[in-house]
Amino acid sequence: MLLVFHTLFLISITHAYTALSDSFLQSITSPDADFNPENGTLLSPILRPRVPGTAGHSAVQHHFVDWFSDELPRWRMEWYNSTSTTAAGAEVPISNLVFQREPPWTKTGQANWLTLAAHYDSKNVPEGFVGAMDSAVPCAILMHVARSIDRYVTQMHDEMDALGEGGTVPMDMGIQIMFLDGKDSFDGEAPALYGSRALTKNWEMKSNLMPLRYPNALSQVSMFVLLDVLGSANPTIPSYFPTTHWLHRNIANLETRMRKINVLESRPSSAFIPQSNDILPQSEPVDDYVPFMERGVPCFHLMPSSLPSNRHTINDDGEHLDMPTVRDWAKIVTGLVMEWLDMMEVWPE
Ligand SMILES: *[C@@H]1O[C@H](CO)[C@@H](O)[C@H](O)[C@H]1NC(C)=O
Ligand SMILES: *[C@@H]1O[C@H](CO)[C@@H](O)[C@H](O)[C@H]1NC(C)=O
Repeated sequence: MLLVFHTLFLISITHAYTALSDSFLQSITSPDADFNPENGTLLSPILRPRVPGTAGHSAVQHHFVDWFSDELPRWRMEWYNSTSTTAAGAEVPISNLVFQREPPWTKTGQANWLTLAAHYDSKNVPEGFVGAMDSAVPCAILMHVARSIDRYVTQMHDEMDALGEGGTVPMDMGIQIMFLDGKDSFDGEAPALYGSRALTKNWEMKSNLMPLRYPNALSQVSMFVLLDVLGSANPTIPSYFPTTHWLHRNIANLETRMRKINVLESRPSSAFIPQSNDILPQSEPVDDYVPFMERGVPCFHLMPSSLPSNRHTINDDGEHLDMPTVRDWAKIVTGLVMEWLDMMEVWPE
């Protein structure tokens, strides 16, 4: 029964996805100097050790909170705090941060959420580890995406508000950005997923009072896109899951078109997102999408299949990033979100 529900739902969402025109793609901005690892306003404050419970961790939280409230005040912010117990018995505070924009007409339980996520905590070993690819860069990309789409979202809402109360899946689309905490463990190599597990449980229990379409908060997540380990040159991200293969094809097309009209700057040996019908099993399946997928949420894992050799080492830092690749990811993910949210509707042509 549940499976049927999700399948039908996916089909209706597929129809809302609209490719952007070339001129719209050309208008997508690069994060440029804001991603400078040394002094860029978005990325550099995240490039520091940020183990839960430490001062670095709380400084990065402040960076997200202050930046959104200064730059993007229309995004609603919500904390999801909990406590987890490590395998060694230590209690750690876990704080997920979620920023949302939804249409002005949607009531509680009505919006469907395109959800973009990255974890912001860093591994506690090796000492001094800053996790640039893992996942400071993905967090900065999400900030850039929010900034890039903000005025289009406002315009879309203003234009559609006149049409009434919404009530269809394409009209009631919202976007949320999740900075997840406690992905990495304190006891070893296996990811802990403390933050994503706590959040999915919380939302699954949060029943909607008038469940027209969505029985609980978690079922409002129309797609969970997880960014992880992005920032090294020549990444390849195959399609991992049959349920979201259609989205992989759309992103592959998007990247191909962006390269063709020269809006990307990297010169990889092959496309980041290959045009292929193959679905490859995940090499390292455990990541923050798992608790979402276990509960029936469609998931897309934006993480390379072959992981760079400096992952989980002290060399996963700002100096070892391939900046053209990093900036291109910011543009590609922005394009994906605009296509999902049907932004051609507001493009003047
Ligand atoms: C930021 O650092 C770069 C070197 O990485 C330097 O070229 C640039 O001038 C600096 N920008 C500012 C605003 O300090
Ligand atoms: C959640 O925890 C963070 C610290 O990790 C704190 O700054 C914030 O105020 C807390 N929020 C709520 C609603 O408890």
